[in-house]
Amino acid sequence: MEKYGMNTNCLTLTRFFLKEQRKHKDATGELTQCLNAILTAVKAIQSAVRKAGISKLFGLAGNTNSTGDDQKKLDVLSDELFINMLRSSYTTCILASEEDENVIVVDKHKQGKYIVCFDPLDGSSNIDCLVSIGSIFGIWKRESDGDEPDVSDALQPGSKMVCSGYALYGSACMIVLATDSGVNGFMLDPAIGEFILTDPDMKIQPRGKIYSINEGYTAKWDEAVKEYINDKKNPKSGKPYASRYVGSMVADLHRTLVYGGIFLYPATTDSPNGKLRLMYECNPMAYIIEKAGGMATTGKQRVLDVVPTDIHQRVPFFIGSKEDVQDVLDCYKKHGLGGY
Ligand code: AHM
Ligand code: MG
Repeated sequence: MEKYGMNTNCLTLTRFFLKEQRKHKDATGELTQCLNAILTAVKAIQSAVRKAGISKLFGLAGNTNSTGDDQKKLDVLSDELFINMLRSSYTTCILASEEDENVIVVDKHKQGKYIVCFDPLDGSSNIDCLVSIGSIFGIWKRESDGDEPDVSDALQPGSKMVCSGYALYGSACMIVLATDSGVNGFMLDPAIGEFILTDPDMKIQPRGKIYSINEGYTAKWDEAVKEYINDKKNPKSGKPYASRYVGSMVADLHRTLVYGGIFLYPATTDSPNGKLRLMYECNPMAYIIEKAGGMATTGKQRVLDVVPTDIHQRVPFFIGSKEDVQDVLDCYKKHGLGGY
């Protein structure tokens, strides 16, 4: 509905979610409230990212995170924003962040039923050179009913997620959100500070023309990955695939969702489980891509079926268009290294 050049009835993310909520007759609104807290954090991070150079927010914070990486100032700020917004939303009981070694147990009087695992700012190495970065989150429902929730409540497989999403701080700021009913994309309209539904019911093509992997590690890959990538570059028929690698997973996967293709972060001889973290990087992305019609695997099993044992555990990660991911699995099978 346009009036005087303005849409007077735009579908904001909150309105969209309220509408979704109506489809479930036992819904309490707690998930919408939880998402609203995440939205506030994302808007604040987006604003910090946009003015980071001017506000002297680039550079190291002087500490290391749960896995020993140097934390950037923006990492620390984003982590605090996610935690503070979620804690005070009265919808969560356990929070797990890439930046914090242990899970955060929300104060009893503020507890709700959701568990949120998040990477507040992914792609840290790209912060200081202005390349796109993002935030990733997955939301689970607490299953135990004991008095005190603990880390075991967070250790649920990705298949039990109720919702996941990412925010991409790129040439525009976008949130892509997956729920049981599908994947929807929302663009931030800076004029009104609201995310507007711009990409309804997103689907990934069954096959793409792009592969995305850090080729600097070629010598450290297993034989299946070496053969797969070599085939993409030197196909027996047709054109070679194009290679694209931003080094920020949110940006690489957003492109994969929109254009099709495959993103790979395999095991290497140094890191037998790869680099990416299951709970707040791979699971949320796997849920989105599967809901959009794609596939995500560790090479041995579906990512969403991995039963976690540690909130910071890593898994090899192959994700994207269904036929492209199936080709990797076929390579794993051929080499007796996995596949299904
Ligand atoms: P981070 O959580 O420390 O930012 O690392 C995760 C990032 C991903 O966004 C990206 O896909 C990957 O690390 C890139 O790693 P590499 O530089 O080894 O290719
Ligand atoms: Mg990360």
